[in-house]
Amino acid sequence: MENNIQEVKSPDAIKASPLGGGGGIHVFAPATVANVVCGFDVLGFAVNEPGDEVIMRMTGKPGITISKITGDDGRLPLDPAKNTVSVSVQHYLNSIGRTDIGLDIELHKKMPIGSGLGSSSASTVAGLFAIKTLLGDDADPAKLLPFAMKGEEMACGHGHADNVAPALFGGFVLVRSYEPLDIIRLPHPEGLYCAIVFPDVDVPTREARQIIRKNIRMQDAVTQWGNIAGLVSGLFMNDIDLIGRSMKDILVEPVRSMLIPDFYKMREMAMELGAVSFGISGSGPSVFAFTRDEDTANRITQKLQQHLTGINIGSNTYVSTINDKGPRVL
Ligand code: HSE
Repeated sequence: MENNIQEVKSPDAIKASPLGGGGGIHVFAPATVANVVCGFDVLGFAVNEPGDEVIMRMTGKPGITISKITGDDGRLPLDPAKNTVSVSVQHYLNSIGRTDIGLDIELHKKMPIGSGLGSSSASTVAGLFAIKTLLGDDADPAKLLPFAMKGEEMACGHGHADNVAPALFGGFVLVRSYEPLDIIRLPHPEGLYCAIVFPDVDVPTREARQIIRKNIRMQDAVTQWGNIAGLVSGLFMNDIDLIGRSMKDILVEPVRSMLIPDFYKMREMAMELGAVSFGISGSGPSVFAFTRDEDTANRITQKLQQHLTGINIGSNTYVSTINDKGPRVL
């Protein structure tokens, strides 16, 4: 599949980019569904909404400041040494030898934190895309990935790429290898819809990673890699039935589902309403279903939201196709 890799701009050209106060940019980066049920840490895709926004301005005074964060209920640090966005951007600036640059960042969270929707990834990717665009660095976006992964490591103790890679490249992404990093963009059927429900309970990724098993049985591994291969084949073959029957996870879901209110009940309801598949988004608590059309996706989100309201749990819902574009300037 064709990807959007471009020529790398020479470091000298980036170094010659204009500095100074005034220049600013407003960037959106999308939420992502990592794991895609069977592909723990290796599969993910981007959606059209929700997503986070970063406004970045050149200040003319070396160093990064964060002047404003909205939508986080005061949970994220304004200290640039502790915020994943500024830390990742600083790593990028160091790597291109531009420690002379002064930046101010505003971060506008448009999705819940700790939701399993790649909240920290969306913020970090928005920040990295903003600085790359401000500097006119038209290098392959893949160059930003290691800096985004540093942000993930800071956010949850592990630098997985299955949120940051689809947030950065858009579309459906396979992390074939971490060392060396090898990211493959996958095709997907046109018109596949994703219904997302975020039940308002907190499941920090750091903790959701600690509870999963460290060792697995060979028999279970065989089941799991059969399903991953089936899902990837289904994506290439445009075979939605194959995608649906491959999205089964016997390794992680049985443990993590315990952190999600009425997970199996919600699955039953989604499947009865015509979902192709249903599972945990990333480390949860968000859940998602693939559907063949928008109406079915809407019916599923409404029904699950109603159910959660009935057990006194608030929720947010989103319906989206797969976002093939990734971050964009607003
Ligand atoms: N692959 C990661 C995990 C995604 O499941 O922990 C976190 O959103």
